[in-house]
Amino acid sequence: MTFLIKGVSLLGGEPTDLLLRDGVVAEAGTGVSAAGAQVIDADGLVALPGLVDLHTHLREPGREDAETVETGSRAAALGGYTAVCAMANTEPVADTAGVVEQVWRLGRRAGLVDVQPVGAVTVGLRGEHLAELGAMATSAAAVRIFSDDGHCVSDPRLMRRALEYVQAFDGTVAQHAEEPRLTENAQMHEGEISARLGLTGWPAVAEEAIIARDVLLAEHVGARLHICHVSTAGSVEILRAAKARGVRVSAEVTPHHLLLTDERTTTYDPVFKVNPPLRTGADVAALRQAVADGVIDAIATDHAPHTVEDKECEWAYARPGMLGLQTALPVALEVFGQQWDLIAERMSRAPARLAGLDGHGRHPATGEPANLTLVDPTARVSVDATAQASRSRNTPFARMTLPGRVVATFLRGEPTVLDGKASR
Ligand code: DOR
Ligand code: ZN
Repeated sequence: MTFLIKGVSLLGGEPTDLLLRDGVVAEAGTGVSAAGAQVIDADGLVALPGLVDLHTHLREPGREDAETVETGSRAAALGGYTAVCAMANTEPVADTAGVVEQVWRLGRRAGLVDVQPVGAVTVGLRGEHLAELGAMATSAAAVRIFSDDGHCVSDPRLMRRALEYVQAFDGTVAQHAEEPRLTENAQMHEGEISARLGLTGWPAVAEEAIIARDVLLAEHVGARLHICHVSTAGSVEILRAAKARGVRVSAEVTPHHLLLTDERTTTYDPVFKVNPPLRTGADVAALRQAVADGVIDAIATDHAPHTVEDKECEWAYARPGMLGLQTALPVALEVFGQQWDLIAERMSRAPARLAGLDGHGRHPATGEPANLTLVDPTARVSVDATAQASRSRNTPFARMTLPGRVVATFLRGEPTVLDGKASR
């Protein structure tokens, strides 16, 4: 099918027509016409390169009651994404070529976004022995990012070995920075509110200590390190100094850490329980500044679906994690306003570069792969937890009204979302 998008604003620029044919942008300009094309009136809409998520939990294999590759892919497409990196903490863990290939195939079959599997760093995420990183890298899934996310690779010797190993094929180790001895039984951010509520705290230094150590290890080895879900002002300062020295480190922040604070914990609603925890207003301000100035490279969702049984229970027993795919762009627009170039950089171009996804994160220009999303920036949408495409409903943004509605998403020229609805 050929699509002619009429009068769309490319990243906030002048109205342009885009002709999508054979998977690419065949023509971009004004007064474009094409016989037989399906015309989309995009007056007032903004086109962005398709969003790319570095950090998605799709839960398949093993926890299909919380999410599947297909339902998570649909949530992603509806959120404006054309590619997601699927985290390895599935059951079984994605620590072999067999499991990463399975996830990759399921992604292809769903066909709604490109699903790029992340491989585990250690066998079973147990932090004892390195997983078969080379076999995952040379598998059909061509894994480039390795992470034990959900767990920290806390043993410094193992972390060093992992960095040395992935350097051979310019891979990346993505660290969930949490010194486990400092977060035993932790329930929320350690600070004034945890003291008042009497809940065991998760101190900022537990994150910062691991980032400081790993930056030094990455510098020593010369390998690429990525820091998942950075949540504190202190972490930002460590990253700022490391980047200034030329260390090959990149970092992401989640939408929830950019908008919400530990104040939410006073509700005892487990929908606000997440790891790392929601932090203070000062941390939120530092994270926003780091996104603006580039110390933080990417906004990544950490989309973490959980079933009602695992989430809607007492705070102490609830699993940590929040949905993110369908609300990330509205949250980014709420926080940063219509800074289209910044949003495209942090939510599409930089993550595509970091994940090595060549067909993604490209400006919608003639000859480029037609991976793009069309947004109505003036729409304001109230988030409905029961109307998520995800199989789970644990969104912390429920009942909030946020700006921006994804009207259409195209993956290689084919619509995965049209008129705000999933096409499959
Ligand atoms: O809140 C979280 N949920 N943080 C993680 O690191 C893992 C994730 C999950 O898998 O649910
Ligand atoms: Zn994590």
